[in-house]
Amino acid sequence: MPNETKQRTCLAIVLAAGEGTRMKSRTPKVMHRIAGRTMLAHVLAAVQAAGSQRIAVVVGPGREDVAEAVKLAAPGAEVFVQEDRLGTAHAVLAAREALQDPVDDVIVAYADTPLVAPETFTALRGPLAQGATVVALGFRAENPTGYGRLLVEDGRLVAIREEKDADEEERRVRLCNAGLMALAGSEAIAILEGIGNDNAKGEYYLTDAVAAAISRGLRTAVVEAEEVEVQGVNDRVQLAAAEQVMQKRLRERAMREGATFLDPGSVYLSFDTVIGRDVVIEPQVFFGPGVVVEDEAVIHAFSHLEGAHVGRGANVGPYARLRPGARLGGKAKVGNFVEIKNAELADGAKVNHLTYIGDASIGAGANIGAGTITCNYDGFAKHRTVIGARAFIGSNSALVAPVTIGEGAFVGSGSVVTEDVPADALAVARGRQQNKPGWATEFRSRSTKK
Ligand code: UD1
Ligand code: MG
Repeated sequence: MPNETKQRTCLAIVLAAGEGTRMKSRTPKVMHRIAGRTMLAHVLAAVQAAGSQRIAVVVGPGREDVAEAVKLAAPGAEVFVQEDRLGTAHAVLAAREALQDPVDDVIVAYADTPLVAPETFTALRGPLAQGATVVALGFRAENPTGYGRLLVEDGRLVAIREEKDADEEERRVRLCNAGLMALAGSEAIAILEGIGNDNAKGEYYLTDAVAAAISRGLRTAVVEAEEVEVQGVNDRVQLAAAEQVMQKRLRERAMREGATFLDPGSVYLSFDTVIGRDVVIEPQVFFGPGVVVEDEAVIHAFSHLEGAHVGRGANVGPYARLRPGARLGGKAKVGNFVEIKNAELADGAKVNHLTYIGDASIGAGANIGAGTITCNYDGFAKHRTVIGARAFIGSNSALVAPVTIGEGAFVGSGSVVTEDVPADALAVARGRQQNKPGWATEFRSRSTKK
């Protein structure tokens, strides 16, 4: 951020009063998720990262659910209600109380335009530090139909014309209005109050802030962004398109940081996925929110991770599921068809095949045989299983929690362990084997005679 902008105070007004009917959803539009986080939260994070000390979110009437989401994503943000939907300028004025306090810069963002990078909001603030009063964000539209047009004369922005109000010549302009805007705090209320609703839609247009500023002899400016960045979301098709852009960004960021993706397009990341250096991600891997993968780990194909920590050099999958609270130490191994939930595996512990480990801690170097189940739930409460370092659990064992297997202890295959096992002991908890010599031969001859 340029120093000039850094030193200025900033209020962000986020418009989240969208109707969202085209989403055909019981969930408010701005609460739909991209990369595991609501569109609203993406925008709140971006305006915060662009240096907004104060955030005002404008929601529609009766939208307590959105107000609550605001409090979760940005606890300091204030929520205002726009009772009637009378246009974007009217929506901004719903936050009048926030606008009344002195502030250098005001930025207006849309909660349904989730891909705008913090740097773009910062760029939008730039001309304010140089004396501009209204700064519009423009982009060169592939197809400008439906957008407001930025009318520039002699290099100066003179007006924003909504499609419905534009004449034929104006409609040929490809420089379009993204909608986001920056206003000088000292003039914002006066400019917004000067906006009328004498237009095709009978709405108070925020875009008319440009003409309002010019009529007062104030300076305006345009900052340009890429069209992909300012795309809005009105339906599920556009939601998917925005998701694709976000996924590409996240994957490229991880690759630039030193991770290898064998088939990037098939890997789904969350907004907060952290992937270290020299990590290898095989095809078809899903990262839900809250995953950290340390350096040199390998995530094999078809694995599903959320809320999990994968230690340095660990090996996961193929076909592994790490659920919230899974914490794998360095060089730990979790193999195919293994589910780990709320459990720690210390360094070098191995759980290689067909196993459920839940509410457990597994010591360093322990080996958990194929088909082991921690029976953590009795239908009412969850209980913990503790397995000491270097312990060896034979295949197909059920460990009925709460239970502790001491360090270096062995559990015989097929055991149902209900009592603690002391360190370095062997526990066998299964029917003893009996061999009856010749029994099969006799059985066959008896059966054949019948
Ligand atoms: C707006 C711009 C247009 C720009 C386009 C980019 C205006 C007048 N026009 O048009 O120049 O090219 O975005 O997508 O600003 N909202 C409210 N309350 C209202 C009206 C709108 O909160 O009373 C919110 C909407 O939920 C939405 C945003 O403001 O998030 C923009 O409103 P929308 O109706 O989508 O404006 P456009 O016609 O798309
Ligand atoms: Mg729109």
